[in-house]
Amino acid sequence: MNIRKATVEDLAGMQNCNLTNLPENYVLKYYLYHAISWPQCSFVATMPAKDSENGEKIVGYVLAKMEDDPVVAQNNPDKSKEEDDRPHGHITSLSVMRTYRRMGIADKLMRLSLRALCEVYGAQYVSLHVRKSNRAALHLYRDSLQFEVKKLENGYYADGEDAYSMKKELSVDP
Ligand code: ACO
Repeated sequence: MNIRKATVEDLAGMQNCNLTNLPENYVLKYYLYHAISWPQCSFVATMPAKDSENGEKIVGYVLAKMEDDPVVAQNNPDKSKEEDDRPHGHITSLSVMRTYRRMGIADKLMRLSLRALCEVYGAQYVSLHVRKSNRAALHLYRDSLQFEVKKLENGYYADGEDAYSMKKELSVDP
């Protein structure tokens, strides 16, 4: 098992992993947007694979980004006053192939991404959404990684399920 920064060559493998594991899917262009704009904060977990072109297959990924430019966001009249305008990261998507779960892969991917968002891009906190029914992910975020639930967003997902909006403060280790 190898965990490393994601490259443009990994994007199709990440998309495949996402399609297998989650109902929230994205066009390849959206992965490319992440990789080009914030190349340091998305990571993949890989295993050796003889039958693949580059000799490895992607068994997990975290796709992360920085949120809107705070200056642009501050000047947006539609923006709620309650929103936190400090520079912050966002976890767009995380998943691990079923046979590789409960081995600490998601935990490692997330910790690497959170560190890069903070140290490389100056994120002061990180946000994400998770389905109300997603016990495994909620445990990971809340209990292992100490995210806080900020609010419940009713009908956030396309199928009508509610999402917990979660947030974690980040700080550079002394
Ligand atoms: N039940 C309860 N807690 C769990 C479970 C589970 N099935 N799986 C993981 N956890 C929690 C535990 O707190 C665990 O800590 P512990 O091992 O000390 O008990 C912690 O997560 C870390 O576990 P990992 O082994 O690092 O997690 P894993 O690599 O198995 O991946 C993930 C967890 C990503 C949620 C995986 O189950 C998955 O891919 N699920 C489908 C896709 C998904 O739901 N992705 C998240 C959507 S939200 C988003 O993308 C922003």
